[in-house]
Amino acid sequence: APFLRILGIETSCDETAAAVVERDAEGRSNVLSDVVLSQLDEHSAYGGVVPEIAARAHVEALDELIDEALKRANVSLSDVDAIAATSGPGLIGGLLVGLMTGKAIAKAAGKPLYAVNHLEGHALTARLTDGLSFPYLMLLVSGGHTQLILVRGIGDYERWGTTIDDALGEAFDKTAKLLGLPYPGGPAVEQMAQDGNADRFNFPRPLVGEARLDFSFSGLKTAVRQAATEIAPLTDQDVADICASFQKAISRTMKDRIGRGLKRFKAEFPDLPEKPALVVAGGVAANQEIRSTLQALCDKNGFRFIAPPLHLCTDNAVMIAWAGLERMANGIAPDDLDVQPRSRW
Ligand code: KG4
Ligand code: ZN
Repeated sequence: APFLRILGIETSCDETAAAVVERDAEGRSNVLSDVVLSQLDEHSAYGGVVPEIAARAHVEALDELIDEALKRANVSLSDVDAIAATSGPGLIGGLLVGLMTGKAIAKAAGKPLYAVNHLEGHALTARLTDGLSFPYLMLLVSGGHTQLILVRGIGDYERWGTTIDDALGEAFDKTAKLLGLPYPGGPAVEQMAQDGNADRFNFPRPLVGEARLDFSFSGLKTAVRQAATEIAPLTDQDVADICASFQKAISRTMKDRIGRGLKRFKAEFPDLPEKPALVVAGGVAANQEIRSTLQALCDKNGFRFIAPPLHLCTDNAVMIAWAGLERMANGIAPDDLDVQPRSRW
């Protein structure tokens, strides 16, 4: 079958990534290469991503990474049909590096350029991994985003809920920091929580019971700080109990918020030919307790729960190439070379 092939570039946060992906006429994908360089070591000493360090690291790594992606795919630039680069939202320094590199390659090689929205990349990944058809619900929970999105079609998204303060991953990271746990905080908190008593602290469950589908996590973080200050100095058991109680508060919150989302989806699309689906993306999707909460919620509401493999849930360039492919395959025109990066989008 005739197919399209795209080189994807992702530099919106602290991962430098390049990938080559194909899509055939039936919509099936073939990932030829998937290269990701994490800057974790460069940021961990600061307990978070430092934008200036991130931008410089992208500059240093990107051209070699693109070469590597082409080499692993066993293709040259003349063999790709287009370039797709993330143009937002994200850290402006990194976006500039990736988008300008994408433009330069597109211009030099005479290929069209697709400037891709990072969130669209996350949103369409489940079509690459699971061949999912529209519409479906997507929950993006990462260090920078917490969004519940209705995915109606390519370029057709409706945001049903977002955080009004911290992102969920950010809440994990900040909680870890104030408990003296390493960055990134999510895995550290989850590990500590295993030996903790989740009922010791009754942390708040923000917005639970409210009809709107938004999220809020900063009050939870404040409650953790208060509890930690009251019982300081903290023993390992105290830290474990706080982590377990924090995770429980989050699971209960997600259950309420997402549960409402599923009901709204069923009310809007009562007659879908297939079982409806909830897709999860972002680094927090690695959390086992949150995963099993969402799985149980989907089982109860008659939804399929789709969690793509973790390396495609976290930031990568495969999803950017794929979003470009979906647009190209659907006859959507490429972007002009004067397209600008957008830190907010
Ligand atoms: O999608 P991601 O890798 O990238 C960015 O947001 O840039 O997400 C990273 C976030 C971090 O906040 C990290 O603490 C969180 O995902 N995370 C987790 C877990 N693993 C990573 N949060 C909770 N539990 C985990 N196991
Ligand atoms: Zn992301």
